[in-house]
Amino acid sequence: MTLKQYNWKDGPDFIQQHSVAKHRILQAYLAAYFRTLVSSPNQDVLRLTLVDGFAGGGLYVHNDTRETVKGSPFIFLEATREADFLINKDRRKPVQLQVDYFFTEADRHAYMHLDKVLREAGYGDRIGNGIYIDHARFQDKADAIIEFIKKKSPKNGRSIFALDQYGYKDVPTQLMRKIFEALPRAEIILTFAVDSLMNFANDGEQLKDLLGNLGIPDIFGGRPVDEIKKSDRDWRLLLQSTVYRRLVENCGARHFTPFFIRNRGGHGDYWLIHMSQHHRARDVMTQVHWANNNYFIHYGGAGLDMFHMVGYDPAHDSAYLGQSALGFEFDDVARRASIAALNEHIPRRVYADDVGITFGELFATTCNSSPASAQIYRESVGKLLDEKVVEIVGADGTRRRSSAQIKDTDQIMPPPQRALFLVG
Ligand SMILES: C[S@@+](CC[C@H](N)C(=O)[O-])C[C@H]1O[C@@H](n2cnc3c(N)ncnc32)[C@H](O)[C@@H]1O
Repeated sequence: MTLKQYNWKDGPDFIQQHSVAKHRILQAYLAAYFRTLVSSPNQDVLRLTLVDGFAGGGLYVHNDTRETVKGSPFIFLEATREADFLINKDRRKPVQLQVDYFFTEADRHAYMHLDKVLREAGYGDRIGNGIYIDHARFQDKADAIIEFIKKKSPKNGRSIFALDQYGYKDVPTQLMRKIFEALPRAEIILTFAVDSLMNFANDGEQLKDLLGNLGIPDIFGGRPVDEIKKSDRDWRLLLQSTVYRRLVENCGARHFTPFFIRNRGGHGDYWLIHMSQHHRARDVMTQVHWANNNYFIHYGGAGLDMFHMVGYDPAHDSAYLGQSALGFEFDDVARRASIAALNEHIPRRVYADDVGITFGELFATTCNSSPASAQIYRESVGKLLDEKVVEIVGADGTRRRSSAQIKDTDQIMPPPQRALFLVG
């Protein structure tokens, strides 16, 4: 299946609802990101670089409603403006948001269109001075952008890279690893057209070469893909989960949240993978999933050992279709299911060792494979505390009565009468 590509030669191109959903996620994430980063009243400056590696032409027309839809560069710029207003409106000491933007775009018409619409929107005097638009392939610009960020934020390299490629070939894992190695506080939001990749699986040799180019060679331990396809009824799921795991591992990101955007319009399903080096960043993205439950479907179980896939399906987009959402989503039902699953799994972790585990470590070491946010972990631990399945002890030795104020350093421990609880 070939992907329909946008064309900005004659002005804004049409955009489908499933791509608008992607924009909403980006928007919600940026708002939450700024809120989280600027939480200290004493902070006076925030240095950040926002990179849109596959920027597009800036404007679209909605395929169904014919309304104008702003592209990702505008979402980045407007997210900062809104954050600036919200953060500073009640502060005595304002925080200065020092944000630079890199928009790279390989297609000449798209690049020219983006430049034009940004100027028309009043950004002209910032182009070349904080807003850098390049007619280039992201792969060819990445080193220069990394160097810019290192110079601007030598300590942490704070940055977000949106890598919204059409398919799956343009961002090899080596490139993402380079970003994480150079910039400890970088985050990447990667689009990966998993369905198109799966269609390549019709030809085992081709798939192998392709994965090799992405930096994930010999993924199936020498087993030919054709053999896997013959022997395994769920080969698509197996290929997807293996590719997914190796992709995030090879990028060198400690934390990630995948979700799945399902497109019934014929472009194929794709992943939107958020990768970061810090569990808090991962938690912020997870909260975005929970807060935007009209746009996500969650596939799989809700516990710590599930195969986790989170998805968007236009048929379930109630805001768009005006009907109630169906299926397992980031809603109250999912929340209760997640707490119930954590209530089973957390004691196993806690009881594995007499001293238990700190809340911070529990979350950091298990969150990648759970749809739960830190708040849901907290509620689950609170329930276990009420049921006397665990004890929570602060760093100073005090026993907690509730989990509401649980700190990362608090130890979750088996209670003295541990026989009461049977580990399954
Ligand atoms: C999916 S569209 C991006 C849409 C845009 N991020 C948005 O949300 O409005 C992908 C864009 O990447 C451009 N592109 C393709 N290969 C590229 C590359 N190697 N580097 C930079 N841009 C590329 C395409 O011309 C296209 O405009």
